[in-house]
Amino acid sequence: DVVYRKFGGCNTVSIIDRYITKSKINIVIKNISHTLRKDFFMCGIIGYIGTKKCVPKLIGALEALEYRGYDSAGVAYIKNGNVEIKKEKGKIKNLKDTLDMDVDAYIGIGHTRWATHGEANNINAHPHKNGKVTLVHNGIIENYIEIKEDLKKKGYKFTSETDTEVAAALLDELYSKNSDMVKSLHEASKIIRGSYAFVILVDGDDNIYASRCASPMIVAIGNDGYYVASDVPAILAYTNKYMLLNDYDIVKLSKDKIEIYDKDLNEIEKEIKFFEGSMDAATKGGFEHFMLKEINEQDKVFKDTVNYYFDGTIKSLEKSFSYLKNFKKIDIVACGSAYHTGVVGKYLIENYANIPVNVEVASEYRYKKCFYDKDTLVVLVSQSGETADTLAALRKAKVDGITTMAIVNVVGSSIAREADYVTYIKAGFEIAVATTKAYLAQLAIFSLIALYLGYENKNINENEFNELVKEYNNLPALIKETINNDNYSTIADKIYDKKQIFFIGRGIDYALSLEASLKLKEISYINSVAYQAGELKHGTISLIEKDTPVIAISTDDSLREKTISNIKEVKARGAYVVYVTNETPQEKFYDDIITIKKIHPILESILTIIPLQLLSYKVAKDNGCDIDKPRNLAKSVTVE
Ligand code: AGP
Ligand code: GLU
Repeated sequence: DVVYRKFGGCNTVSIIDRYITKSKINIVIKNISHTLRKDFFMCGIIGYIGTKKCVPKLIGALEALEYRGYDSAGVAYIKNGNVEIKKEKGKIKNLKDTLDMDVDAYIGIGHTRWATHGEANNINAHPHKNGKVTLVHNGIIENYIEIKEDLKKKGYKFTSETDTEVAAALLDELYSKNSDMVKSLHEASKIIRGSYAFVILVDGDDNIYASRCASPMIVAIGNDGYYVASDVPAILAYTNKYMLLNDYDIVKLSKDKIEIYDKDLNEIEKEIKFFEGSMDAATKGGFEHFMLKEINEQDKVFKDTVNYYFDGTIKSLEKSFSYLKNFKKIDIVACGSAYHTGVVGKYLIENYANIPVNVEVASEYRYKKCFYDKDTLVVLVSQSGETADTLAALRKAKVDGITTMAIVNVVGSSIAREADYVTYIKAGFEIAVATTKAYLAQLAIFSLIALYLGYENKNINENEFNELVKEYNNLPALIKETINNDNYSTIADKIYDKKQIFFIGRGIDYALSLEASLKLKEISYINSVAYQAGELKHGTISLIEKDTPVIAISTDDSLREKTISNIKEVKARGAYVVYVTNETPQEKFYDDIITIKKIHPILESILTIIPLQLLSYKVAKDNGCDIDKPRNLAKSVTVE
């Protein structure tokens, strides 16, 4: 039970059953961390109880969570003592069109679903009702078939294909015996394997109940009522006061009080947190898309992030990063774009700090044999702080006794809470699924780490340090200039209808190619591949034909000649070459050029990525894509 609770993964129980003998308990605890699955989910949850009509509150919250990705939405509320449920496939607007926004109801729950069990249709949409229990759920009940069979024998009937309806029936069964939903949730936590955030209404009861295991959940306090939600943005239009819940906490919200119980059913107090960011982040502020708005915020984000840790003196860096000197090796672990910042980080740290850095994709790292030891620091990079694989990698390292450090945007997120050290980037809410400003802020943190360790290692001398201080100060203006210097649209117009696009570069320029390529494919749906420029001729060059776009990045003087040779190789085979560089070339071996200002290599990648972000944006726009919410993607990838 201790192991089961500690690791929060209900599904670890079967592993324990299979392997445990008393003498092996320590080994088992270690092994569990390797096999542990921690599933968080991508949909949104809200509950409201108070003095205001609940439907507009619920819809407002669901709309604020819309960016997370979902396939259907629903609400349930208590009207004249009865629970009424409304749900619709597709956008929240579809649901809204069926609702009476002015309905006389003050207690309600809402959900946006990202289907895991059963297709996305009206029947499978949440809320689900079985017996007296109406519930919305984020997560997966892994043993739902077993529970369902058992409940069927007891006479329960099911209308949907979801695992969620089974949870509703299970809670109804438990509630029918003890007439106490807090107790029922406690008992259910011992039966259910998997992950959940539940928000619940019970027939004949004027409270909202909620509980979580491995899916995020907060409780918020407003002037006109209480909320329970999966995420802070859900409640920000109403209040900035909230409390974080732990696994197995159980919440009972009444009109005039909040009760919270821990896993042993002791009533507990929670620290009230105040969200200090602004709501502006949740609006487009005149921009056509969140992505464009977020690209345009990057000068400020860079400034906010750097100024938080660095006032131009080595002392300020020492305050935040001195512990880094204790390590001889670094493993950077992350997913997607955060992994790509890690690849840039590797080049910077290895070059300036002389420390070997291993960068790994979290979904691989969590299952592989790791050769880390007490001299290794595991660095987790995550905008959301909730990415399931990154969190699992963090837990694996922790169980193995390895020191962990997280570079995270969302304050109070799981990764931020569990890592030994946290460095927050100061990017504010990032709404567009395709990350831009968080990526850039992560690069800024890696630059500061390289600067600090490079200085301490004497790879960066006093003069260079002072020059760099000036460059840090000037960079926000250069970022702005690069964003505004728009010659990217004409290039976008030339490539938007191509079937595939290649990005090439060497060293740090290869790391940037990876990100540029991901950005392009995730929002424009054009197949795109990033290659180390020297590797093309080992196979991939066979794909180059007349007019195949090749975007070649070259900002590193020491690798320039080699990259130019590779560019000439593709040009000779008919490629349409866009040369992204900080030099003025002596000959024309390209078709179009994007020139970036030459600055110190520690900072150059921050500038170089900007035209590539904008190029992707414009290509996606030319293709009429849903830029902020690309198909099949969600902002926070909380499934394994
Ligand atoms: C980036 O544009 C992607 N949407 C995605 O690769 C993302 O970076 C990845 O899922 C990691 O997310 P995280 O930073 O929240 O952990
Ligand atoms: N497993 C549940 C379902 O498929 C919940 C999915 C979700 O988290 O949205 O309905």
